[in-house]
Amino acid sequence: MESAQIRQQFLDFFEARGHTIVPSAPLVPANDPSILFTIAGMIPFKEVFLGTEKRSYTRAASVQKCFRAPDLEDVGPSPQHQTFFEMLGNFSFGDYFKEDALAFSWEFLTETLGLPKERLHPTIFEEDDESAKIWSRLTGVPEDKIVRLGAEHNFWRMGETGPCGPDSEIFYDRSGRCLRDGSDCDITCDCDRWWELWNNVFIQFDRAADGTQTPLPKPGVDTGLGLERLTAVMQGVDSTYETDLFAPLFGEVSRLTGIEYGAASEAQRIAMRIVADHARGAAFLIADGILPSNEGRGYVLRRILRRASYQGRQLGLERAFLADICGRVSEVMGAAYPEVRESEARIRELVSDEEERFLTALEAGLTRLERAIEEAEPSGGRTVLSGEEAFRLYDTYGFPIDLTRQVLQARGWSVDEDGFDRALEEQRERGRSARELERGQDEALLVAARELAPTRFVGYETLAADATLLALFTNEGRSQSAREGDTVDLVLDTSPFYAEGGGQVGDAGRIYGPDGEVAIGSTRRLGPGVFVHSGEVARGQIAEGATVRAEVDETTRRGTMRNHTATHLFHRALRQVLGPQAKQAGSLVAPDRLRFDFLHNKPLTNDELREAERIVREQIMRNQPVRTDVMPLQQALDLGADAMFDEKYGEEARVVSVGDSNGEAFSRELCGGTHCHATGEIGAFFIVDQRSVGSGVRRVDAVTGFGAFDWMDARREVLEQLSREYNAPLAELPERLRALQERAREQPKQTASNLPDPGDLIERAEKRDGALLIVDTVDAADAASLREFGDELRARAKSAAIVLGAL
Ligand code: SER
Repeated sequence: MESAQIRQQFLDFFEARGHTIVPSAPLVPANDPSILFTIAGMIPFKEVFLGTEKRSYTRAASVQKCFRAPDLEDVGPSPQHQTFFEMLGNFSFGDYFKEDALAFSWEFLTETLGLPKERLHPTIFEEDDESAKIWSRLTGVPEDKIVRLGAEHNFWRMGETGPCGPDSEIFYDRSGRCLRDGSDCDITCDCDRWWELWNNVFIQFDRAADGTQTPLPKPGVDTGLGLERLTAVMQGVDSTYETDLFAPLFGEVSRLTGIEYGAASEAQRIAMRIVADHARGAAFLIADGILPSNEGRGYVLRRILRRASYQGRQLGLERAFLADICGRVSEVMGAAYPEVRESEARIRELVSDEEERFLTALEAGLTRLERAIEEAEPSGGRTVLSGEEAFRLYDTYGFPIDLTRQVLQARGWSVDEDGFDRALEEQRERGRSARELERGQDEALLVAARELAPTRFVGYETLAADATLLALFTNEGRSQSAREGDTVDLVLDTSPFYAEGGGQVGDAGRIYGPDGEVAIGSTRRLGPGVFVHSGEVARGQIAEGATVRAEVDETTRRGTMRNHTATHLFHRALRQVLGPQAKQAGSLVAPDRLRFDFLHNKPLTNDELREAERIVREQIMRNQPVRTDVMPLQQALDLGADAMFDEKYGEEARVVSVGDSNGEAFSRELCGGTHCHATGEIGAFFIVDQRSVGSGVRRVDAVTGFGAFDWMDARREVLEQLSREYNAPLAELPERLRALQERAREQPKQTASNLPDPGDLIERAEKRDGALLIVDTVDAADAASLREFGDELRARAKSAAIVLGAL
């Protein structure tokens, strides 16, 4: 049975039992900063389990793509480990519980798939008598023979916090005896006899950061059945890597290296498994918008690409090859996950860029390492590379420590491992203290923010409001009052100032107290929504507890609103022009300009830029209404609202739509920013620049409103000046300039140089440490004579640094 069939049978089975089939969510959890990746099928349903989000169904089933990175070292040596994998899962949200869940699992495995009952062995949480009874009935095994295990085996939680509960697992006995010593080992033996196939978690608690577990009002069921393992069982092979999910990838590796997986040595197999697994992981991470970088998710991507590329060398490959393997991933997985097929070109390009860069660094690192060895050899004796040197290779050249070890070994050398560990630890320490310092600066504010009530934001409706000054901070920390000239941070109970967020800059303006006023330059958000207004006391003094009037600077705020609405229009326009994969990767919305970063790997052509501009302008001219609605997050996503993949959204989403009058929005985005009421207010839109900002990301700068007029005026000014100077109407100016250039070319060149005597320059030159320093401008007619003069000067001066220019 092929893996594709298994996926389908699973979904069909649960659909027939009243489950709604839910498509796989992205690998980046949309609404959850507590985890880096989607690590299980239940992640997209976390809030539903907690009861904070409602869905239109109480039973669901999915095939969820997952990524787990903590055990990267196990991938390769173990024939069963993967970073990227697929989880088949069925879920009950306060609907059925243990009885039905376990019966469904049993029926699917034994009847639908026809697996032999005697090979399937359930385990349960030690205190779970109810599951023992159910299993005894289903399997015919006496209740006291059902294997009970402690929380380390049979209690599942998604992370430090969130939904959790006891679980019951179903193991598959592959060999009937211990694969290590032939004994009758039990389920906890790690000899590869027992494969855990299916985990039924009975979600009953919400775990807090301090470890306390609060019972949930409605318990649920979360199950997970690993597709790779089930496929290996169904295909009768000994490893998940020998299934049809991986065979085509190994085929590609063989095509490039000539090494067959079946005939490979163990070391080669390990290398092939790493390459295949990491290529799958990389392709899927990139398809979901992740880019290689030095932190967070991007760093995980970078690490797996480097590890895989390095393994290529073990297989005898010297050039970049990973893009081809990732290309195969797109083909193999494209039917089940169209996003990897749609992003294939981008995946290939990013992977090959990243790998080329790594290989260059690897070469440079190898040269450095060779040199270190050579330099040490003549002095004799030394055969240990210092920890600092090994660390420099690792840190500067991205050189894996195991590669350093291997190169050294071949020469009878070794690495000072302790020294390397120390250097690594010191670097971590430096990173930690830098972060702590950064945090320290805001420490006083943060502590205070925890005690203060979140600021009531009224800036969507109004630009001025009366408020109470709850807290005041000066350079000395929290203060009772501040005087003219003091730099201050102010916290109010109510504020019309927008606090920086979602790409939009914080508002500027003035805060007036009974005895003075403060000029506010920026506003930001701290902790749980406490706004901090930063500025300087411009007149008189200001004191805590005062009643104040907060006024946002209207001109800059209106500029920001124009740019924000225009950003949404441009996002849509870009995707119309370039395709849906041109997703937003970041933005800056300021009063005078907007900056938009998006996923795209080549410069936009002039036609593409003009077309995007045209679409935005058309929306402006149609003066489309801009609406904001607050609705449950899921409803917003179901409506197709665009969301930033790593932005945290609350339960309730604010949706900004443009042009919703006949039910069809031109643009719909989750956004907390401030916007125009109608697109006509934007007034004008010009793209002023585009460039690349890192691999696969492009940036466009644009201006709107008065900023656009200023931009155009400056250009008009230049043109009019040229028109006057060359005495030609604007329309004829290009022709006039061309003619002038032509004439200049035809005129005989001025050949006479009036060069000085090189001796004079040498005489005048400054002397430094026995050499001359000559810096001068000479009268040379062209580059050739300047060069000639320079050569002569150099010959006569012997030892000198010379900088020459010509007017
Ligand atoms: N969430 C559980 C697991 O990952 C069941 O899917 O094992």
